[in-house]
Amino acid sequence: MVEMKDSSKQLPLKAEVNYLNFYYGGKVHALKDIMMPVYDKKVTALIGPSGCGKTTLLRCFNRMHDLYPGNKYKGEIALQPDGVNLLSPKIDPIEVRMRVSMVFQRPNPFPKSIFENVAYGLRVRGEKRKAVVREKVEKALRGAALWDEVKDRLQEPGTALSGGQQQRLCIARALAADPEIVLFDEPTSALDPIATGSIEELIGELKNHVTILIVTHSMQQAARVSDFTAFMYLGNLIEFDKTEIIFNNPSKQQTADYIGGRFG
Ligand SMILES: Nc1ncnc2c1ncn2[C@@H]1O[C@H](COP(=O)(O)OP(=O)(O)OP(=O)(O)O)[C@@H](O)[C@H]1O
Ligand SMILES: [Mg+2]
Repeated sequence: MVEMKDSSKQLPLKAEVNYLNFYYGGKVHALKDIMMPVYDKKVTALIGPSGCGKTTLLRCFNRMHDLYPGNKYKGEIALQPDGVNLLSPKIDPIEVRMRVSMVFQRPNPFPKSIFENVAYGLRVRGEKRKAVVREKVEKALRGAALWDEVKDRLQEPGTALSGGQQQRLCIARALAADPEIVLFDEPTSALDPIATGSIEELIGELKNHVTILIVTHSMQQAARVSDFTAFMYLGNLIEFDKTEIIFNNPSKQQTADYIGGRFG
């Protein structure tokens, strides 16, 4: 199962995935007994061939699968330090999404102003104090390295921004409600190399404040941005370790084959 170096075991945990199984529509067994630590304020990359379960695993963390009937979780994702199981039916998925927010593959700003895109989560939370909303919107836009570009046009539609700016707007939206974990599902696959570089740089800064999980098809990106990497295949977690070990000295043959581009 998952092998870890002793040095990593002393790092603080943000979450622990314990025997997680997931079934689409009660039939497709998409995740099988996943065991994985998520270290606090580190970047963890999920890699593996198409269809191996990366998106499925990511979406368990903010209960996205609850939006479709028939989907079923087994096992747990314990959020630390309180140990709350995010998958418990007793936990409100809306509450989970405040603590764990998500950035999607394609920038998907709401048809609202730049300001309201970022304020959205605060409004859902019931925050009515105008000064607080303004302050948090600015902080999130600064955190997403977008403030200087938009501070004079906050009332313009979010869709009027460039693709890379829209993705940073979506990151600001994900940051506004002070989440503990931010999930990124191939956040740069729709962006050019320059916009990709700025998002990668941003991820490097964000991990000073939040824990990050990122799905990526680009091994170079995983190697550049992540501290830990999980290699998945056919719904199984094959190997988890520090990124440098996964890329330079993995313990499983399947991992080595995938990293070396020798995978069917
Ligand atoms: N809504 C769904 N209903 C049924 N099966 C699904 C659904 N979504 C995904 N699956 C199946 O679950 C498995 C994992 O899919 P998932 O989307 O997690 O893969 P992935 O690793 O993210 O792939 P990719 O790299 O192509 O995005 C696949 O076999 C897929 O066909
Ligand atoms: Mg996917």
